[in-house]
Formats: sequence, structure tokens, C-alpha cells
Amino acid sequence: MNSHDIKTSLPFPKSFWTAQQTTPEFPVLKENHTTEIGIVGGGIVGIISAYLLAKAGKKVTLIEAGRLINGVTGHTTAKITAQHSLIYDQLIKTLGEDKAKQYYDANIDGLEFIRQLIKELSIECAYETKDAFIYAESHYGKRKLEREAAAYQTLGINGELAKEKSDLPFPIKEALVMYDQAQFDPVLFLTALVREIIRLGGTIFEHTRAMEILKETTPLILTENNFLILCEKIIMATHYPINDADGLYFTRLSIHRSYAMVTRATGKIPEGMYINVEQPARSIRSVQGKDGEPLLLVGGEGHQTGKSSQKTIFHYQDLEEFDKKYIGGQSPLHMLSSQDLQTLDKFPYIGQMIKQCDTILVATGFNKWGMSAGAVAAKLLTDTILGQKNRYASLFDPTRKKLKLVDTKTFLWKNTSVGKDFVVGKLKRPDKKLSDLALDEGGLVSVQGKKVGAYRDEQGHLHKVVPVCTHLGCSLDWNDAERSWDCACHGSRFSYKGEVLEGPAVKPLPSSDI
Ligand SMILES: Cc1cc2nc3c(=O)[nH]c(=O)nc-3n(C[C@H](O)[C@H](O)[C@H](O)COP(=O)(O)OP(=O)(O)OC[C@H]3O[C@@H](n4cnc5c(N)ncnc54)[C@H](O)[C@@H]3O)c2cc1C
Ligand code: FES
Repeated sequence: MNSHDIKTSLPFPKSFWTAQQTTPEFPVLKENHTTEIGIVGGGIVGIISAYLLAKAGKKVTLIEAGRLINGVTGHTTAKITAQHSLIYDQLIKTLGEDKAKQYYDANIDGLEFIRQLIKELSIECAYETKDAFIYAESHYGKRKLEREAAAYQTLGINGELAKEKSDLPFPIKEALVMYDQAQFDPVLFLTALVREIIRLGGTIFEHTRAMEILKETTPLILTENNFLILCEKIIMATHYPINDADGLYFTRLSIHRSYAMVTRATGKIPEGMYINVEQPARSIRSVQGKDGEPLLLVGGEGHQTGKSSQKTIFHYQDLEEFDKKYIGGQSPLHMLSSQDLQTLDKFPYIGQMIKQCDTILVATGFNKWGMSAGAVAAKLLTDTILGQKNRYASLFDPTRKKLKLVDTKTFLWKNTSVGKDFVVGKLKRPDKKLSDLALDEGGLVSVQGKKVGAYRDEQGHLHKVVPVCTHLGCSLDWNDAERSWDCACHGSRFSYKGEVLEGPAVKPLPSSDI
């Protein structure tokens, strides 16, 4: 099948979680506003922080560029676990036993925190306690699991090698279990907190993008419509931090996109939550459909944003093939894709955004494990604002020095290729003429000798943009699965019409009048 046939055979990518229920809507900010704590970004970090601070009696205002819980948190796999694939053996080797143990403790605390909150507020969010497994299909993978199992023992982690406990319907060489982890529906969970924020006197604005954070004595948020929000403190919960004038984050984050689909299954859906050792990545869990129907979620196929080795739609096709062949998945009901940030030492950056300024706080770099860690972040940021001690403050301090590279090869490779995009990307040749574009096809085209980003929609209308990222000027790549323009440098994404889908960019792409 060619990419067009695959596209027409699959549903349009959309969050599975937001498709299950309607989330409350909030107005756009239409005047200047004063608050104590300004929170930018309505994902797991922003919403839990707003809830905790409102509960502590603070005047809280949360602004969201689009709709709440529609960023990465709305497109996640939503396993709440401290089993972050293979990590503890590596952490012990690079950062030592103490830090590896603290990382584990922090994530178990994050999991417990979510568990408690659900109990306290009686939130119905399909929360289920589950065992988490990493599985290996090769001898090489098995050896890796054995080393990771030894690290579990060293750190006192509640888990072990347990191939016999796996209920995957295909043969594996080994499995490493971490007991008593969990999964949930993040949109149901966070929607309940949003209602609590409002009940506690908090204020929320949607479709209100922060364009700039002004680091005055009293910090200010400048919004898209030129309104100001005067704050005592600001939490930047935008996933990728905006306004990184000092370049502290751009040089220390890399961005990775991956894919998932939800299907019915012919056989029994595995009970456990699974992730594999080998490549391509495969992540498996059960989910509940609208009427509680048991469904299967399979994810994987990651690559650096804006740098896929094949047309992005083929990643969905590869996942579908795996799903059908190995787990008995049927035709996809939902497809979703999303991206997350990796840090140099695999620990997120949580705390004061820059050393010299204690009024602006940030949480980012969850390395695809931002459920437990997102809760940890919200608690840490809240404690910082309330002047309370938090045992993980120095571990996750964004300005920490001596960041030891845990995965040197991958990180350096990715960031060197970012540099190349700056220079080489701009010289990339368009591969098509405008007249070559079929319906529902996009790409870089040459018009009057100039490079234009064009998409011909299903009705035949052409949408032309200047295909240069409004963040720092890197060249953009066409993402045919999502019909978006993606930037490999820091992961900004734009719709085919040029609207910002994901930052750090805050300005839309100009349309091209050529
Ligand atoms: C495919 C995939 C699967 C994953 N699976 C898991 C998993 O199973 N378990 C796990 O623990 N983690 C998982 N993660 C990671 C986890 O989902 C993320 O780390 C987490 O959701 C990040 O939350 P956040 O609040 O930082 O960001 P987001 O949820 O993206 O929230 C940020 C919000 O800020 C808004 N925003 C951005 N810029 C602005 C601006 N200028 N003004 C106003 N608002 C703005 C955005 O619109 C967005 O709503 C996965 C990630 C991916 C990509
Ligand atoms: S140049 Fe930074 S995201 Fe595009």
C-alpha cells in the first residue's frame, strides 16, 4: 500500500482519552489580570500544581494555549510507574547508588501521591493497580534484563525476573517485573482536579497563549492578545519551556516522537503493562472504551521529531502489523502520536528556571515517564512556592551542574543533528512541484524557484506556508500522518495552516503568498 492508501484506511490521529469524554471549557483572557501564582500550561504538571496551590489558599491562575489536557498528557500511554524501561543499572553506573535510589523513591512517591489523591477525592478514572514488565525477545535483551534485575536487588526495588508471570500471547526470552504499579485515564483524573481548582477559587483561561515571560521584579506573562498577567510567581508547565533566552534548556533537551493505537482484540488482552527491551520500541497495556469495553493500546515506533526515516504514516502501519500479528489486534479505533523530552542525565529538570531568578519555576524533560514524575514535579514546585522542604529539590534542580550523560551516544548524535538542521536544513531542496500534490498530500514544493510548504486538503484547497520555524529559524519537515510541519531542532510543530501546535515556538508560520 502507498502512503495515501494507508492514510485513507486508518482513522485520523486524535487523542483516545479526550475522545472518551468532554472536558469543561474555559474563556479566553480578554483583559489584564492580577494573580499570586500564574501557571502556564494545562497538562499534568500545570493542573496538579494549580490544584495543590489553590488548596493551600493561594490565588491561582492557569492559562492554556489550546484546550486543557490536550498536550502530551492527553496523548500519553498513562502507565504510572517507576519502571522507566531499562534505567536503574545505567543510573547506578553513571550517577551512583544513592541517586538511582532517590530517583526510584521519587517516582514511587509520585505514584502513591496520585493513588492517594484518587482515593481522597473519590475520582473515577479507570485507575487499576498493575504489574509492570520489561520483556526481552533476544539473548542480548535477556542479559540486559539480568543486569537490570541485579540493580533492582541493589536498590531494594520490589521486582524480579519473572518470565512465567508474563501473560503476553507470544514467546519471550525473559521478563522483569516491578510489582504494584498502576495505569489510569489521565483525562478523567485531571478533569476531576480541574473541577476542584475552580471550587477552590482558582481561575482558568483556555486559548490563551503565553508569548513571553517578563522577568521583572514582579514577573509578568504577556499573552497572545497583548494582555498582561501580573504574578508573584510563575510556573512554566508548557512541556518545552518557552522564553529560554539563556539557552539553558535548548542545549540540554532532545525531543522524541512516538505513536500509539487502540484496537479491539480477538484474544485475551494482557493483564500486565509491558514494554520491550529491543528496538523498535513496543509498549502494551489494556484500556477501557466508552462503555467499559476492554481494548488494547499498543505504542512505539519512536524517532526524533521532524526526522523520521520514513513517511510518518508508515509508523502507524508498522504498529498495526505488530498488533495484529502478535497480540490479535483488530482494525485501529484510534491512533495518536506525541512527543516527549529527554534530558542529559535522564532526570527531569524541576525547580527554579534560572539560578538568578526565584520567581519563575519550570518542570520539563520527563523522558516519556511524566505521570509519576509529573506528580513529583507538581509537589516539588508547590513546596518551593510554599517555602517547604522537598527531599528531591537538589536531585532535579534544573541548574544542577556536572550533568553526567547517561546515554552519551544518542544525546550527542541528536544534538549534533540539530546543529546540522540549522545549516543544512535551510538548503534542503524541495522534492515536488505544486501541481504534483495529490488530495491530502503535503510537502516542500518549489514555486517560482522558491521553497514553499504546501498541503492540498481533501477538498482540493491549497494551504501554503513559509516552512521555516518561527522559534529559531530551522527548516521544517512535513509530517504526513498528522498533516503538520515539524521542527527537528527543538520539536515545535505547526498545523498545515501554520498555527502553533507545540512549542517552544509561540508565533504561527506566515502564509506564503507566492
Ligand atoms: C507517546 C508517549 C507515551 C507516553 N507514555 C507515558 C506513560 O505510559 N507513562 C508516563 O509516566 N509517561 C508517559 N509519557 C510521558 C508523559 O505523557 C509526559 O511526560 C507528560 O504528559 C508531560 O506533561 P506536561 O504537563 O509536562 O506537558 P503537557 O501535557 O504537554 O502540557 C503542557 C501544556 O502547555 C501548553 N502550552 C505550551 N505552550 C504554551 C504557551 N506558550 N502558553 C500557554 N500554554 C502553553 C500545551 O498546550 C499543553 O497543554 C509518554 C509520552 C509520550 C510522548
Ligand atoms: S528552531 Fe527551535 S523549535 Fe524550531
